[in-house]
Amino acid sequence: MKARLLRARTGSGAIDMASVDEAAGLLRDGRLVAIPTETVYGLAANALDRAAVARIYAAKGRPSFNPLIVHVPDQSAARRLAAEWPDAAEALAQAFWPGPLTIVVRKQPSVPPEVTAGGDTVALRAPAQPVARALLDALELPLAAPSANRSNAVSPTSAAHVMQGLGARIDAVLDDGPCAVGIESTVVDVTGDVPRLLRPGGLPIEAIERVVGPLARAEEPTGGARRASPGMLTRHYAPDVPTELVDPSAFVAAMSRMPASARVGAVVRTAPRPSDPRVVGWERLGDNPAEFGRRLYASLHRLQDQGATHVLLERVPDAAGWEAVADRLRRAAGPIRR
Ligand code: TXA
Ligand code: MG
Repeated sequence: MKARLLRARTGSGAIDMASVDEAAGLLRDGRLVAIPTETVYGLAANALDRAAVARIYAAKGRPSFNPLIVHVPDQSAARRLAAEWPDAAEALAQAFWPGPLTIVVRKQPSVPPEVTAGGDTVALRAPAQPVARALLDALELPLAAPSANRSNAVSPTSAAHVMQGLGARIDAVLDDGPCAVGIESTVVDVTGDVPRLLRPGGLPIEAIERVVGPLARAEEPTGGARRASPGMLTRHYAPDVPTELVDPSAFVAAMSRMPASARVGAVVRTAPRPSDPRVVGWERLGDNPAEFGRRLYASLHRLQDQGATHVLLERVPDAAGWEAVADRLRRAAGPIRR
């Protein structure tokens, strides 16, 4: 099987409803379709169809304990899947939906356990991406969708990335070009007294805190301990070769440790590419965290395509605005725990 590529735009740039309807038909039939969102491409299935949701886990090789985000058109659709809709959910949805924010609430019994990995909460998000919105409107069904990559691999920000990783395992890809935000949604749990950050992401933390006050933080996951957000395994979003996080001042030393036969790929902020024959790719993503985040996954995919055998990632500032990028870099370089 090879996924069909469905182009989401006509020549004039309008949304191609024939493609959207085709994707909707496949999804109604319980098939898997990768869809564009403003954060990353998602691997979508009808969230109310248990067999279809099970296919997501199989296609990704995703562990069954890691629950999925459910995508809805708006707050009223979200509320139909929630057993409780606390004031914080209301305030956050009002302020940031549609957009790169996922809200975890108590679930209705109608949400199948496959979606929530057996838990009694559900993660909900209304995406802003116009094609995703057109699809959700046409379908009138909630869509379960994790990022459209094999489990632990680098997330996709283009249809080509999806095809490369999952093309042989899914039914179609709805292609709307590169993702505007490029990094996954921020995940906030509002089931407790104080809203809690489970994953930094495309919506900056300061923006959220202006609406609901200071967020509690999830502790870092450790081996066997209970995880607040089961998806946050240490190694994640990772290139498939040894990957190291390096202080800017230690870059030269890190290069000198590379074997003579190494093919080195690097992601840096502004450092110029050294004239070293071992360097096969040098991605300079700049000093703006939103821009860095938007380009990061495409850079990691490119380094893989260039045949890098070692990847060096420059550590970014421990400063407001950089949390999501710092988190993804750390997880890309984390110890392998698959
Ligand atoms: O931007 C995004 O969020 C993208 C697009 C496609 O929407 N999706 C995405 O999904 O990043 P995924 O599966 O790669 O990450 C979902 C994260 C995981 O860390 C998972 O553990 C967490 O959300 N999550 C899902 N349901 C949860 C729940 N009920 N409670 C706590 N965490 C949950
Ligand atoms: Mg993911």
